[in-house]
Amino acid sequence: MEVIITPSPEEGALSAARILDHVVRAKPAAVLGLATGSTPLGLYRELIRRHKEEGLDFSGITTFNLDEYVGLEASHPASYHRFMHENLFAEINVAPERIHLPDGMAADVNAFSREYEKKIRAAGGIDLQILGIGNDGHIGFNEPSSSLASRTRLKTLTQVTIEANKRFFNNIDEVPRHVITMGVGTIMEARICLLLAFGEKKAEAVRAMVEGPVTANCPASVLQLHPRVVVIADEAAAASLARADYYRYVFAAKPEWQKETTFLPALLEE
Ligand code: GLP
Repeated sequence: MEVIITPSPEEGALSAARILDHVVRAKPAAVLGLATGSTPLGLYRELIRRHKEEGLDFSGITTFNLDEYVGLEASHPASYHRFMHENLFAEINVAPERIHLPDGMAADVNAFSREYEKKIRAAGGIDLQILGIGNDGHIGFNEPSSSLASRTRLKTLTQVTIEANKRFFNNIDEVPRHVITMGVGTIMEARICLLLAFGEKKAEAVRAMVEGPVTANCPASVLQLHPRVVVIADEAAAASLARADYYRYVFAAKPEWQKETTFLPALLEE
């Protein structure tokens, strides 16, 4: 795991955008795994700016989102379909037919989930997966106790997550209890994972993910077994890391050209 500690969430978003920029320019047909939540918003804003002002071209990319609430129409204000449309897709030149999100209204969730996995494989697999982290250590919506080998499927949210996500709804009773999410095993097959974590509320989950044991109690901890993970955390989210000084030292010692391209060669080998 490469841990990059940035002074602020804004600088973390810029670092992540520079990594994405390299990926999209080096591999214009890249397959990107996308995440929702507050965390990637700064990253998406910077990608939009780079598209509009610097010609960053998304016309060849394919996208797969991690998750969606069950029972919400795409048009619902809190749906992840709507979130992605408003915060990224409407502002860049991604081809609509290459955008994929789990369908929260699917009549047969199991059949839909199998099909979603097939589509990811048919696209050649995910090159770079953007991730946030839940306060309880979830990635996507893989809550604690999720199988570390799980695939796309229906999940039930924990109270911690329902509580954390109620801010997007009128009240807590409106938060769906069920979701469709890529599995931990699905995420682990991405060639590169880029996880962002900002703010003190994430400090314990970040510590458990980076320095705790690999355990289904903190699904994000399985990323320790992934060969190419970049974690970008601001000072607040990194505050509980015992080896923070070492991560800073490693990153500062890298040659400039390598700082945002560490794992890029893995995308260009095939
Ligand atoms: C949500 C999403 C995750 C996200 C996490 C953190 O419920 N399903 O993909 O990473 O919880 O959200 P936030 O970025 O708003 O803190």
